[in-house]
Amino acid sequence: MKGKYNMRTRIIGTGSCLPEKILTNDELSRMVDTSDEWIKTRTGIENRRIAKEETTYSMGAEAAKEALLQSKTAAEDIDLIIAATSSAEYAFPNTASLIQKEIGADGAACFDVSVACSGFIVALNIADAMIKAGGVKKALVIGTEIMSGQLDWSDRSVCVLFGDGAGAVVLDGNCQHDKGQECNSGKANASGIIDADIHSDGSRGLVLTCGKDTPVNMNGQEVFKFAVKKVPESIQTVLKRNNLTADDIDCYILHQANLRIIESVAKRLKLDIEKFPHNMDKYGNTSAASIPILLAELNREHRIKSGDLLVLSGFGAGLSWGSLLVRL
Ligand code: COA
Repeated sequence: MKGKYNMRTRIIGTGSCLPEKILTNDELSRMVDTSDEWIKTRTGIENRRIAKEETTYSMGAEAAKEALLQSKTAAEDIDLIIAATSSAEYAFPNTASLIQKEIGADGAACFDVSVACSGFIVALNIADAMIKAGGVKKALVIGTEIMSGQLDWSDRSVCVLFGDGAGAVVLDGNCQHDKGQECNSGKANASGIIDADIHSDGSRGLVLTCGKDTPVNMNGQEVFKFAVKKVPESIQTVLKRNNLTADDIDCYILHQANLRIIESVAKRLKLDIEKFPHNMDKYGNTSAASIPILLAELNREHRIKSGDLLVLSGFGAGLSWGSLLVRL
């Protein structure tokens, strides 16, 4: 029994999908009163992708297929699909079910989680808990968003920030050991999700909103102040609980909202920005998709490897925030 409760949920595959259409800062500056210089210096964003034919579920399915292929997992072996999204085309069916149909994961239970830019972190935490509870062996967790459909394209304070895309991971709750060998999945250095710290503060929910008939609206400075305070706090919580220092982490994968937020978090943790890879220059803020898109990119480029210790942190509407500690 002990082995079961000590086991860790491993990330065994990653994937991503971005729409083909690129929208540059210069193109945006012909649509609203802004400039490449303003957007770049305030946010680090240079381009974003915009969905044309793509849907949240078509991109989610493409990202999932890459993650399945990489992990050598058959779609029919997936027991659970969770899609983190706040921009689904349908109130029902959920996006995860539409992805299920596209990839042929007929045996999976499917649902969506809606925690905006923290959605992927929360979805991973739920999938990990369901795997540890038993019954689920393999899961797909997908962040997928079409933020371009949620924007007022005449509001320069918001429309320059966001982009579309999807990222996915395959999770495996099976022990890593070969037949006849001792099970090591409960050991301190075993691969898998080690710890999670997630929070919400609904009392500040109206700082960042998007309604059925109203586009994304926010108090940018409030969101900025919230993120640079709560993200380092959450990271420190998981580090402390696991007797780690900030230096022990190989790579911090943060939600890609704004380069200045990431720089501030690095500074608060007294770390070099080198440990904080970023790609918002290419894709903007893709909400729940940003962390798995970056994870897939780093994996593809061999910038992260088996054994690395990662912290994944999300933050956004809710207000919500959280961090996961993961050994690859
Ligand atoms: N182009 C040019 N000028 C713009 C602009 C744009 N796209 N958007 C706003 N401005 C103007 C404002 O109107 C304001 O002009 P004023 O001084 O004449 O009134 C000026 O730039 C400064 O605006 P301000 O809102 O103070 O800028 P800022 O330095 O706070 O940067 C954000 C704005 C949105 C980039 C910044 O607050 C931010 O990144 N916040 C976090 C947002 C976020 O990441 N949200 C998602 C979280 S998941």
